[in-house]
Amino acid sequence: MIEGSRSDNNLNHTPPGLHQELRRQDNQALSMTSAESHSHPPLPDKTGLRLHPPGWPRADESVRAALDRVYSSGDWGRYHGQECQAFSEELAAYHGVAHASLCSSGTIAVELALRGLGIGPGDEVLLAAYDFPGNFRAIESVGARPVLIDVNASDVNLDTSQVEDAMGPSTKAVIASHLHGGMIPMRKLRAIANRADLKVIEDACQCPGAWNQGKRAGTWGDIGVLSFGGSKLLTAGRGGAILTDDAAALQRTKVFRERGNEAFPLSELQAAVLRPQLEQLDADNDRRHKAAESLCRQLTAISSLQPLKTTASGAESVCTQGSSLAPASSPGTTSQRHQTGFYKLGMWYQQGDGKLDREAFSAAARAAGVALDTGFRGFAGRSERRCRKVGDLPQAHRAASELLILHHPVLLEPEQTLTAVIEALLSLGSGP
Ligand SMILES: Cc1ncc(COP(=O)(O)O)c(C=O)c1O
Repeated sequence: MIEGSRSDNNLNHTPPGLHQELRRQDNQALSMTSAESHSHPPLPDKTGLRLHPPGWPRADESVRAALDRVYSSGDWGRYHGQECQAFSEELAAYHGVAHASLCSSGTIAVELALRGLGIGPGDEVLLAAYDFPGNFRAIESVGARPVLIDVNASDVNLDTSQVEDAMGPSTKAVIASHLHGGMIPMRKLRAIANRADLKVIEDACQCPGAWNQGKRAGTWGDIGVLSFGGSKLLTAGRGGAILTDDAAALQRTKVFRERGNEAFPLSELQAAVLRPQLEQLDADNDRRHKAAESLCRQLTAISSLQPLKTTASGAESVCTQGSSLAPASSPGTTSQRHQTGFYKLGMWYQQGDGKLDREAFSAAARAAGVALDTGFRGFAGRSERRCRKVGDLPQAHRAASELLILHHPVLLEPEQTLTAVIEALLSLGSGP
């Protein structure tokens, strides 16, 4: 946000320790703490205003009301109250699936999904060679072997054209993660999986509420996975869920979870704060989508930064360099069914001669008040003792060294702030 541009300073109320915690959790920096912002004074923009990355979670009266409600009811201190039950029903209805089952994190949700689908020792699981690190570990934790497939250069998401050739006799499942606003073409992946009897775990941790070819993200897979971690679009500090129509798979996850009591629970308190956020999710995603559209348009002014192509539903390209994020047929509006989810806005960084390298550029951006960071490290460099690699994985290698990601809270900021973000990036000396 821009200091002095609005009176509601509550929006920047996140405790300084929160972002440091997220940094460890995601194995990458997500945003900047107020302490950091003070040690690197933000640069003034042309108007003399100073940028600060907005805090997360934002102040939200409906969340405060949910906390009051759960205090009054006493559910905050109970194993079983009304909130988890109500939230899982609301989540299932929102997604149009038979079952939503709550758990302690997105990482655990991926592991539960693997176990629910019967994946275990001796099995292989396909995943993108550029993905959230916990997904690789979840495969290992059930005793299966990760098989790495390269990502597309355009959006750094799993290259579905390589899935069939990547399969071997032991390959049982694929993890399809929608990353950085991109959307894996799930209709195509589903068709491949059906032909090959391959189970699909659809990781929608970064894009709750997004639409993918006419369905909500997370509902194309045999099991879909959500995260409610502290940096996520729906946040309870920690938490996750699985979505499925497969009652038998759900039952297998329950067998693994129930050890006298629930082993990986979401609490009543967490469910209570998530319920009002789910109600606002579509409206928030709409705002984020429009902001991402604006940023992508403005980023064309910076030759070193090329936004990733993001797709919402169908084959519509919604975020390519130099083009509008919204479909051409709907100027000025964003159909919700074309919305993707922006946990991060991803972009390639091309270092010009004599210009800052990627790490220096992102550090300078953060010092200037823009929550820009490097992406995941990915797995392309991992030892073949731990995984099977399909080809040389050139795009995953490139993603590990050339991607930058802008963290989502800025996408709920006004246009003036988005323009200030672009100006701050331009001022870093890597412009045209
Ligand atoms: C794609 C993806 N999958 C899974 C997770 C794990 O979620 P959690 O942090 O709740 O364990 C994340 C977290 O950032 C993620 O980005």
